[in-house]
Amino acid sequence: MRRINIGLIGWGTVGTGVIKILRSNAAHISRRTGVSLRIRRVADLDLKRVRGIKIPPSILTRKASQIIEDPEIQVVVELTGGLESAQELIIESLRKGKQVVTANKALLARKGKILFREARKNNRRIFFEASVGGGIPIIKILQEGLAANKISSVLGIINGTTNYILSRMTEDRISLEMALQEAQINGYAEKDPTLDLSGVDSAHKLVLLASLAFGGWIDLKKVYVEGINEITDEDIEYTGGLGYTIKLLAIAKQTASGVDARVHPTLVNRHHLLASVDGVFNAIYLEGDYSDRQIFQGKGAGEGPTASAIVADLIEAGKEILTGNLNGPGSLLIDDDLKMASMGEVECRHYIRIPAVDRPGVLAQIASILGSFNISIASVIQRGQRRRGVVPIILMTHLAKEKALKKAVARISRLPMVKGRPLRLRVED
Ligand code: HSE
Repeated sequence: MRRINIGLIGWGTVGTGVIKILRSNAAHISRRTGVSLRIRRVADLDLKRVRGIKIPPSILTRKASQIIEDPEIQVVVELTGGLESAQELIIESLRKGKQVVTANKALLARKGKILFREARKNNRRIFFEASVGGGIPIIKILQEGLAANKISSVLGIINGTTNYILSRMTEDRISLEMALQEAQINGYAEKDPTLDLSGVDSAHKLVLLASLAFGGWIDLKKVYVEGINEITDEDIEYTGGLGYTIKLLAIAKQTASGVDARVHPTLVNRHHLLASVDGVFNAIYLEGDYSDRQIFQGKGAGEGPTASAIVADLIEAGKEILTGNLNGPGSLLIDDDLKMASMGEVECRHYIRIPAVDRPGVLAQIASILGSFNISIASVIQRGQRRRGVVPIILMTHLAKEKALKKAVARISRLPMVKGRPLRLRVED
């Protein structure tokens, strides 16, 4: 059995997990797959930090170049998490003839076209199973398991931090700030959770999923993104009363006018398969023309699940090296930019919370504005305690176009009796 030599750049939580798996399951992996994986070198700028495992000092280095320049290393695992520097590392590695494994979803979503093109030019491949859904092998499912299908919809809960926060707000009616604090104390949220809360992390992952699902490249700039920052415990309560759970969904649908790709907090019917995916779990729901509806669920982050995905890629990279097929099928189709549908044309039902002064005539004014945009109201709730005379009016609409809703809500927010920004959430039916 031939050995595959690996160079690991970036020794953090996931890198530690990879080393642990290769130590504890090495014999199992080689017996099962015919590939013997060995870490030949580990590079990190900080070699002093305590990581809970020991590595022979002889294989440690502070210089990534010692990995990239080493002719014995066949696969480079990039786990630095950076952007420009990571891009350089990957390109250099490919040019030196190495296969690359990465979990860097932000980099791939932004610079995927350059990177995958570079891989192809060098007859090498970039593996990225760990970039979406942690331990869920969703990339392989799309590339291989469902390759026979035309996929029409991808719906994902693909950010564990926000799913944990929304779940905690739902379970115990705590505020978003408290739930975030709790997530940070428990080590679920990043120190800077901006990319998670703003929905951008989900958008990065959606670019990769949707590009694979629909067979072309999705431009990140054309993905509509909204985060969870404005969700209050009040919204959790009202939507719960209406039979919904709020989830940050990454949605991509193939429509007649192109791909509709968006990330936003969404009202999901309590009985939908995704509604019960709680805490740090991720789930991806797919609809294929022959496979029909499927859901894949698992831990979307953390040492073990993410390292499991990295090692799966290492095994695949190793198999390709052993068979001499270094640029096998499965790379992203980057040559065709997929046509994107316009967000303004997206049609959803909506939940709207409007903080308004509790006076006669307010509801009539709001209804009149909605009517003028041809938006039909399905139900209205107004209850709860007055906060300085302000009571939220909760509206559910029938199906309406995004562009109409946007204009109508902007006009409603300018009414003198409306005190604060209304919140609008879309319903996924
Ligand atoms: N910050 C990400 C999350 C980590 O919360 O899901 C995994 O990509």
